[in-house]
Amino acid sequence: MERRRFITDLGQTTAAICSIGFLAACSKSGDNPTPDPGPGGGGPGGGGARLTANLSSELTAIGSSKTSGNVIVIRTGAGNVASSFSALSLICTHEQCTIAYDAAASDFKCPCHGSEFSVTGSVNQGPASAPLTKYTVTINGNTLTVN
Ligand code: FES
Repeated sequence: MERRRFITDLGQTTAAICSIGFLAACSKSGDNPTPDPGPGGGGPGGGGARLTANLSSELTAIGSSKTSGNVIVIRTGAGNVASSFSALSLICTHEQCTIAYDAAASDFKCPCHGSEFSVTGSVNQGPASAPLTKYTVTINGNTLTVN
């Protein structure tokens, strides 16, 4: 009887140790086959850029824009310098509806509850009270990158 109990206990202990080892092997962080590529999902422009543009052919006129997902960049001034562009989120800060850029009026309007934002992201009209999320614009040669 004691021998039978010893063998049973040994079997259960071995199973428990194997289970712990198996679970530990499953939780290794290096096993993720699809790591997060970061902002922009590793799309065009690489390096995790949210949006890129070729300034020799895109965004040439003041008021012109380019979007990628929920990110928009608008030319607000002359010259290929970062201060001539505004990069913003297209998600309304009120209740997260997607806003629309009105190039003729040079502002953004939210279709859900009527908030309006300037091309720099500030609130022109509520009910939203917080400005749009701004992103960083960098320019290298003719390549504009939004991060
Ligand atoms: S979600 Fe934009 S005004 Fe309400």
